[in-house]
Amino acid sequence: MALTRIEFTGFSTPVNFPAPVYDVVKNPVTADGFKLGRKLFYESALSRDNSISCGNCHIQAAGFTQHGHDVSHGVDDRLGNRNSPPIMNLAWSKSFMWDGGVFHLELFPISPITNPVEMDEKMENVLAKLKADKAYEELFYKAYGSKEITGNKVFNALTQFMLLCISSDSKYDSVMRETGVKFNEIEQKGYTLFKNKCSTCHQEPLFTDGTFRNNGLNNTYNPDIGRQAITLDANDQFKFKVPSLRNNAFTVPYMHDGRFTSLDQVLEHYSTGITNSPTLDPLLKQNGTPGLSLNAEQKMALKAFLNTLNDKHFITRKDLSENHEK
Ligand code: HEC
Ligand code: HEC
Repeated sequence: MALTRIEFTGFSTPVNFPAPVYDVVKNPVTADGFKLGRKLFYESALSRDNSISCGNCHIQAAGFTQHGHDVSHGVDDRLGNRNSPPIMNLAWSKSFMWDGGVFHLELFPISPITNPVEMDEKMENVLAKLKADKAYEELFYKAYGSKEITGNKVFNALTQFMLLCISSDSKYDSVMRETGVKFNEIEQKGYTLFKNKCSTCHQEPLFTDGTFRNNGLNNTYNPDIGRQAITLDANDQFKFKVPSLRNNAFTVPYMHDGRFTSLDQVLEHYSTGITNSPTLDPLLKQNGTPGLSLNAEQKMALKAFLNTLNDKHFITRKDLSENHEK
């Protein structure tokens, strides 16, 4: 069977999305830059023992997360202390990592490459390995007009690939774009509840407001002070970046440490499991008591709505896959 070629369209903002935060003029996504970035994203030479690529922890079929692992597994199967977040809609992110420790997407890849529990490699070795591989000469030439391989080019190309990991084709998006698709009754109920109880933090249409908040997880499961480690401010204790809720069907497990394995557990957490602490977000208290006390019907409706945020197209797009068309 012949593969259908996918037309390269570059970066464009989905009609129901706001303007991106990332300056797409500064590092324009070109067809050749994107292709080079994709090859690098799936390149295990980026790791010390050539065993792990970015794509090992950010798996497309799992919405670019590491399915089935609560915390990430790197070189020598070393464990990280956090759950791999999705590579998704990053052009709309103001900061990166669960604690917001990184501000610039282009500077991001140096962190996993050199992190001992991730790829554990030195940038100079990565460059030497890429230079030794003739296939890259041509790819760098096409993308940048010169065969020279530099760290900056590697980072910019990886960024171009990541910028095109846009998820905007869920049922929710079709409803919002008024294409004729409608929520059913229970999804609509869930949407109304969601707007009442969840959307201040999980703001539409990206389902995050980009802030750091404490949503009441207990700190005994996997002690981690979160944002406080970056700002050294006690008011930031236990705060983590509000994650998007898109593609939750594919990104199990949930939360920064992957402690929940189902949406039922998540909803039970918001209903009865909220741990009080000085930094708990006030939105998660009702009349001074922690928890949103959701009844069974409300939980069912919320779950039905959350399931409208799954985007099958995103996790099956050939151009983002390791086995892309040539
Ligand atoms: C060993 C697993 C592993 C590998 C390999 C890995 N990552 Fe990650 N990635 C993670 C984890 C875990 C986090 C979250 C870390 C944190 O917040 O403390 C993360 C976070 C990210 C983020 C931030 C996303 C956000 O929304 O904040 C980006 C971007 C990213 N990785 C890109 C890459 C790129 C590019 C590569 C390859 C050069 C790569 N990753 C390799 C595990 C991995
Ligand atoms: C006060 C802000 C806030 C409110 C309100 C809130 N959340 Fe969250 N939510 C967060 C934060 C912060 C996290 C990540 C916490 C962590 O991992 O430490 C999160 C995580 C999640 C996750 C896990 C996502 C993932 O990929 O790991 C789901 C699902 C979720 N929330 C659903 C909801 C639902 C449904 C509601 C409404 C009933 C809701 N949230 C209300 C802040 C909030």
